[in-house]
Amino acid sequence: MKNRIISPSLLSADFSRLKEEIDVVINAGAERLHLDVMDGHFVPNFTFGPFIVEAIRKLTSSHLETHLMISNPHKYIPEFIDAGSDTLIFHYEATTNIDRDINLIKDQKIKVGIALNPDTKIQLIYDYLDALDYVLIMSVHPGFGGQGFIKETLQKMKNLSNLSKKHNFLVGVDGGVNLMTIDEVYNTGIDITIVGSGLYGATSVSNRFNELMSK
Ligand code: DX5
Ligand code: ZN
Repeated sequence: MKNRIISPSLLSADFSRLKEEIDVVINAGAERLHLDVMDGHFVPNFTFGPFIVEAIRKLTSSHLETHLMISNPHKYIPEFIDAGSDTLIFHYEATTNIDRDINLIKDQKIKVGIALNPDTKIQLIYDYLDALDYVLIMSVHPGFGGQGFIKETLQKMKNLSNLSKKHNFLVGVDGGVNLMTIDEVYNTGIDITIVGSGLYGATSVSNRFNELMSK
């Protein structure tokens, strides 16, 4: 069985205690952090932009995966790279030119990922699998933390995990992953789970991290 990789989503962290909220998951063993950028247009919610990514970069040397839930990602990709992202993920549904946006990111020598909404078919990105480092399967409709896991996305996870062996990319799953759902998610063969409310909602975040890793 593969080792579990959990990428804590800071969306559910307490931003007034951000340094502590980062340290608790890093000390528990997290090697990457998931940063959710929302523009109030591609998704019906706002979070933060490159300014905050840059601040988070100063708080940790851990791998930062920045999930852009924004329209016209190409306009902002350079700023999110300069801010210190190690992986930059844009949405299939938001881009106007996939090749251009993949190259904008790869040219800067950081990792590139594409996110797929729950209703978006994985076949649509088959032509790009060799160019991608990461595919993020949304198991909720993006926009908010704490939503219920959409079970119909499990089959997409299985299919993409199989393809990842040949094409060499990581598969991440984002949304509704918690103690109840994490086993069936990892059973599909995926590499990384993003966990927000299922981690930061716990009384002891470090204990919860360990529980999620070992279940
Ligand atoms: C959803 C975001 C997720 C979110 C996950 O729009 O992309 O990263 O923070 O949160 P939970 O784990 O609470 O579903
Ligand atoms: Zn996300």
